[in-house]
Amino acid sequence: MSNNLVAILYLVSAILFIFALRGLSHPESSRRGNIFGIAGMVIAIITTLMFKSVLSYTEIGAAILIGGLIGTFIALKIEMTALPQLVAAFHSLVGLAAVFVAAAAFYDPVSFNIGEKGYIASSSLIEMSIGTFVGAITFSGSILAFGKLQGTISGQPIVFKFQHTINAIIFLFIILLIVFFVIDQSPSIFWSIVIVSIILGFLVVIPIGGADMPVVISMLNSYSGWAACGIGFTLSNNLLIITGALVGASGAILSYIMSKGMNRSIISVVLGGFGGEQSGATKADNSDKVVKQGNAEDAAYILKNADSVIIVPGYGMAVAQAQHALREMGDILKKEGINVRYAIHPVAGRMPGHMNVLLAEANVPYEEVLELDEINHDFPMTEVSFVIGANDVTNPAAKTDQTSPIYGMPILDVEKSGTVLFIKRSMATGYSGVDNELFYRDNTTMLFGDAKKMCEGIVKALN
Ligand code: TAP
Repeated sequence: MSNNLVAILYLVSAILFIFALRGLSHPESSRRGNIFGIAGMVIAIITTLMFKSVLSYTEIGAAILIGGLIGTFIALKIEMTALPQLVAAFHSLVGLAAVFVAAAAFYDPVSFNIGEKGYIASSSLIEMSIGTFVGAITFSGSILAFGKLQGTISGQPIVFKFQHTINAIIFLFIILLIVFFVIDQSPSIFWSIVIVSIILGFLVVIPIGGADMPVVISMLNSYSGWAACGIGFTLSNNLLIITGALVGASGAILSYIMSKGMNRSIISVVLGGFGGEQSGATKADNSDKVVKQGNAEDAAYILKNADSVIIVPGYGMAVAQAQHALREMGDILKKEGINVRYAIHPVAGRMPGHMNVLLAEANVPYEEVLELDEINHDFPMTEVSFVIGANDVTNPAAKTDQTSPIYGMPILDVEKSGTVLFIKRSMATGYSGVDNELFYRDNTTMLFGDAKKMCEGIVKALN
């Protein structure tokens, strides 16, 4: 295949990837976005396989088959609620791939056209070591993020004295190692860069906990893009450079949007800082407090007699897969002439857009689904807030308790509405481990039970 044809086909793929990102920015266009992405990837793979430099189709075919089978198996088995940790696990593989490609290029520079062993071009060594550094950080940071999201490692921030200074010293040490590596081309320095970067990856993610993990995941997403971009330079593959940069840049933009939504500074996320200033989750003593409890019939009665209802979905709705029953409930209320809207917090659930996707799947009209900024000022004029499987995103401790790990995060002001109904199974905390004093308020009624069953019960009672 001629170089010109490769360039044109790679350009087409890159354009399709840009359309894919555009499409994925809204639930309505996301399917189209996915199709663009798939088409771009198919063109990219076929074009690459047509290279004269391909030595063995058997090995490539075997790798595609094994990888494809594993991917299909995981995609079919994975629960929607476990997607964030799966994404984190996949990011770690991208990081590891970057390290392996750099190692392969370092040990066999002739095959990569970057010189001979011991005489590799300095520019290639710099690209290689930066790719290795970003890849290794992505690898270990993503493994830790996976553990925190899966619950195998405590989600609480782990903080110690001089954490930032230690991270800064390690970072400077890595730069020094890269300089020595470029001068010396020694394998031991190459592997030192790998090991020290892996340690830095762990240290960057351990202080982050509570409700701040979403920003870290999107940041690691961005790092994995830059790692892929680094591989692109090592392999002299323009499309990989462009694709890596697209993933890196879009991940960085998403992190910026999310850290703004969480009222955090993006700089401290990049440096692995935030969550560190706080002292940990608040454990208020609520043992002597009482909560008002209700059942599906009570909820149906309260809802039917309201003029306006704002539904606040959260992670529990995803766990229970309650979105269809919820939409049915919303439809009945609308038929009664009640103004029903849905309020979405930027980090509700466990991944960006989690609630939007579920509500779209249940055919909730887009115009009824409003973001925090669009709807928050309406809570004081709203009779009932119907909180279904959400907790942290409504917790007033984010505004009042400076020691809380969620302090500073904007919340949906459900407390300002006339009545708050909370569907959840117990008094357990949400992801951040912080108690929610709203449960004990006079205008709150707790509806204990599985979100789907409770919604079905309310639908029955309304009918
Ligand atoms: P959470 O604060 O995690 O609360 C979810 C609540 O749902 C829990 O308190 C749980 O209480 C309840 N629940 C679980 N299963 C249920 C079921 N089957 N039926 C009814 N209720 C159920 O959720 P949120 O308000 O959506 O906030 C999201 C949190 O996750 C934030 O802290 C956010 O920072 C963090 N996070 C978000 C993301 C992204 S990108 N969105 C990624 C990682 C982490 P019970 O156990 O008592 O039922």
